[in-house]
Amino acid sequence: MTNKEIKIAYKEYDSLDQLELQDKELAEAAIEAMSGSYAPYSQFNVGAAIRLDDGEIIKGANQENAAYPSGLCAERTALFYAGASRPEKAVTGIAIAASQHGELCASPATPCGSCRQVMAQSQLRGGLPMKVILVGANKIWQFEKVDDLLPLIFDSI
Ligand code: THU
Repeated sequence: MTNKEIKIAYKEYDSLDQLELQDKELAEAAIEAMSGSYAPYSQFNVGAAIRLDDGEIIKGANQENAAYPSGLCAERTALFYAGASRPEKAVTGIAIAASQHGELCASPATPCGSCRQVMAQSQLRGGLPMKVILVGANKIWQFEKVDDLLPLIFDSI
């Protein structure tokens, strides 16, 4: 028997101004993307912005539906659109922001398990690390790659 351990490293910032310029730009795009949220049921507005390897930024937002499971999270809305419209481009970063009652959430909203799996596969598909930036009003978390949010992803088939 061997004991094994996985460690997760991430950075915490107090303000967007502390981020590298490109990351700040992506974080601000995620905040802007919240305006595309359609969330009449949860009133929880999520925006995601993804950066492609040529610098293009693509935005997505959560889209809810009266048949609840038919709705989709912001991250997957953006990633699936990027995969469908720019299939040859790698995703090098994603920023996520969420608001309630018009206020950016104080703590970063962390992506759900299904979005982490889709982020992980998108990273595998692109072959480059995908930086993840989770934007809260009081703190910002930055992960260098999706593995740090979802170790041991399913990629066996
Ligand atoms: N949501 C996202 O957009 N991303 C996540 O990672 C978690 C949750 C959305 C789905 C739903 O519209 C609302 O937030 C409440 O769950």
